Amino acid sequence: MTTVSIENRDNIALVWVDNPPVNALSHSVRAGLKDAMRVIAEDDTIDAAVIACRGRTFIAGADIREFGSPPKAPHLTEVVQIIEDMEKPIVAAIHGTALGGGLEVALSCHYRVAVSSAKIGLPEVKLGILPGAGGTQRFPRIAGVENALDAIISGRHIKAKQALSWGALDQVVDDGLEATALEFAKSVVEKGVRRTGEMAIDGDKYDQAFFDEFRASIARKTRGYFAPERCIRCVEAAVKLPLKEGLDAERRNFQECFTNPQSRALQHVFFAERQVSRVPGISKETPRRNIKRVGIIGAGTMGGGIAMNFANIGMPVTLLEVKQDALERGLGVVRKNYERTASKGRLTAEQVEERMGLFTGTMDYADLADCDLIIEAVFETMDIKKKVFTALDEVAKPGAILASNTSYLDIDDIAAVTRRPADVLGLHFFSPANVMRLLEIVRADNTADDVLATCVDLAKKIGKVGVVSGVCHGFIGNRMLSQYAREMSLSVIEGSMPHEVDKAMFDFGMAMGPMTVSDMAGLDIGYLNRQGMDRADYETRATDWIDRVVESGRKGLKTGAGIYDYDEGSRTPKPSEDVMAIIVEESEKLGIERTSQTSEEIVERGMLALINEGAKILGEGIAIRASDIDIVYLNGYGFPPYRGGPMHYADQIGVKEVYSKILENAEKFGSRWWQPAPLLKELAEAGSSFADYDKRQVG
Ligand code: 3HC
Ligand code: NAI
Repeated sequence: MTTVSIENRDNIALVWVDNPPVNALSHSVRAGLKDAMRVIAEDDTIDAAVIACRGRTFIAGADIREFGSPPKAPHLTEVVQIIEDMEKPIVAAIHGTALGGGLEVALSCHYRVAVSSAKIGLPEVKLGILPGAGGTQRFPRIAGVENALDAIISGRHIKAKQALSWGALDQVVDDGLEATALEFAKSVVEKGVRRTGEMAIDGDKYDQAFFDEFRASIARKTRGYFAPERCIRCVEAAVKLPLKEGLDAERRNFQECFTNPQSRALQHVFFAERQVSRVPGISKETPRRNIKRVGIIGAGTMGGGIAMNFANIGMPVTLLEVKQDALERGLGVVRKNYERTASKGRLTAEQVEERMGLFTGTMDYADLADCDLIIEAVFETMDIKKKVFTALDEVAKPGAILASNTSYLDIDDIAAVTRRPADVLGLHFFSPANVMRLLEIVRADNTADDVLATCVDLAKKIGKVGVVSGVCHGFIGNRMLSQYAREMSLSVIEGSMPHEVDKAMFDFGMAMGPMTVSDMAGLDIGYLNRQGMDRADYETRATDWIDRVVESGRKGLKTGAGIYDYDEGSRTPKPSEDVMAIIVEESEKLGIERTSQTSEEIVERGMLALINEGAKILGEGIAIRASDIDIVYLNGYGFPPYRGGPMHYADQIGVKEVYSKILENAEKFGSRWWQPAPLLKELAEAGSSFADYDKRQVG
């Protein structure tokens, strides 16, 4: 397929790149651009050239799909050098997004013109790599060292106007990009080329102290990531070295990143996120229902946050509570959240009022009659949920979608109390619901395809990553979490102290250790849930020590003490002597001889528990793909993106190895929980992987 073509427009060559969907720099584009430059150099009738793209965007980067195969010449580094070395002026005409290798092509052009809606960026760091075709050397030269560091380390998209102010663009127009770029090219024929690589940086300004300070400023955000430090080293090279040597340093650092497992993991995440909306049984052709007004039942921790998601996209929301004071409290929390955002300068006072204006509070179910989607977020009790859905069935208009935000309960049972189970599904948001990106979309036995399709689309509209799950206790995420939490709790009773368990998991890359999470969530809810539970086997006694902690009056962060101590007004956990004494006593009671475990052992235990349950969930068809499970864990449970999620992590270790370790644990702990998932056994015996399994799935 021809992906690069040339038109001669009045002595200006217009080079078109046409490689849908995003004009990625596949081999044919690289080869096409190289050929085009040769033609332009040789053709005496051509004075200058414009590189522009067909379709929705300028070149959005290297072709990530080619990363898995051996590189094929011409390499991008060669192509950009050829462009920069041209003797005739080359102008990039940018619309959509010029990203990664796409921006590197634009930077190798001598001038850049963009439409005002365009954005530029170097997002390679998000894929675990760094701009590897001169971006780390040319961007600081043209946009300034501070701006380049900001762009390269954050990977963020930069609006055309800002890029213009940085000097990275030469002209920005509202429309008429093609004509403007051609005109611009004509205007620089006389002036000639201006090579980014030849621009100088005032090196004295950027000494060691400058870079050390920058490193310190990003340390918290980039904890555990491999690529950011390599990006900084490249920018340091740009400051200190001539272009050629800087490019060599960039190449070395790029290779280090490229061969690091983190880049595979982050590329996996990139594609996994784009897979989630592919759901068997639904397609572009599946009809969608029109959602214009949303009803929320329950204005507690979850209801208010869920409602904000819809108000944020301008959708009116009716919020129903049982009592006036609960309603007012709920609306008050919503207002406070918006005002906090406004105080950070991210919303204006008018916008706060506009959003609050979209809320209607009520205690009367009849007021939900005009809602197209109603989400229930009341107490986690089946009886109450059933009452709510029975009432909803009476008032909701035909075709309205009825959703439950339940964390664990059976959606089929909830749907069964209505006369319209096809309209019912689970929409499981995560706390805080206005912030957390994850939404589990729970497809019940009778959920209609158009209901599911509508909610998959809606998730995107409200900025969530929606993952479809089947019905089971806890769906994908919480079902896995309970296995992990149990094993972490057992690690404590068998010999490690909470802060040791937390440190192991934090150092592995989790946003927080499991004990800190428990304190934050509050220990009392789990305690209440466990009352009356059969404590016959060892595993169900894993939480005995936590129950003792609760009984001693320590319910978590909200009471100023839980598994940890907290100084007044502080959220920083401190190991508690009292709790450690309880733990030792409880170990004794269970006849356990406490033995210390290494961080690696703790991590392995937690990860194997997650992977085994994930494999069960996958084998039972609760999750569509292993990569969907990864997306759940990354977006809902603080799993480190650079490890790709628990299932990708399993692939990195090797499914066979994981399987044999789980068998060892089954023997060592003698517990039913460690029975390997049938799918894990199957993949291990076939020498296969979760990635292979995913490839076999339709959808
Ligand atoms: N390579 C291959 N495929 C790509 C791609 C890329 N760089 N970028 C996007 N795609 C594919 C997506 O996988 C998707 O395919 P699908 O339809 O089969 O799922 C399709 O293009 C459309 O992508 P989106 O659904 O993401 O479309 P949006 O319109 O929402 O977003 C975008 C468009 C902003 C360009 C977004 O796709 C994006 O951010 N892409 C990645 C950009 C990037 O990271 N570039 C740097 C690459 S690394 C590099 O250049 C190295 C160099 O320095 C040497
Ligand atoms: P919450 O206790 O903070 O809020 C529940 C609200 O529902 C209260 O304001 C209560 O007045 C109201 N309510 C109770 N019965 C009602 C009824 N019959 N009609 C109208 N309103 C009624 O509870 P929370 O934490 O918001 O949880 C709600 C649901 O969301 C539960 O199913 C829970 O499992 C689920 N969930 C909770 C998460 C969390 O982290 N808190 C995370 C994800 C889901």
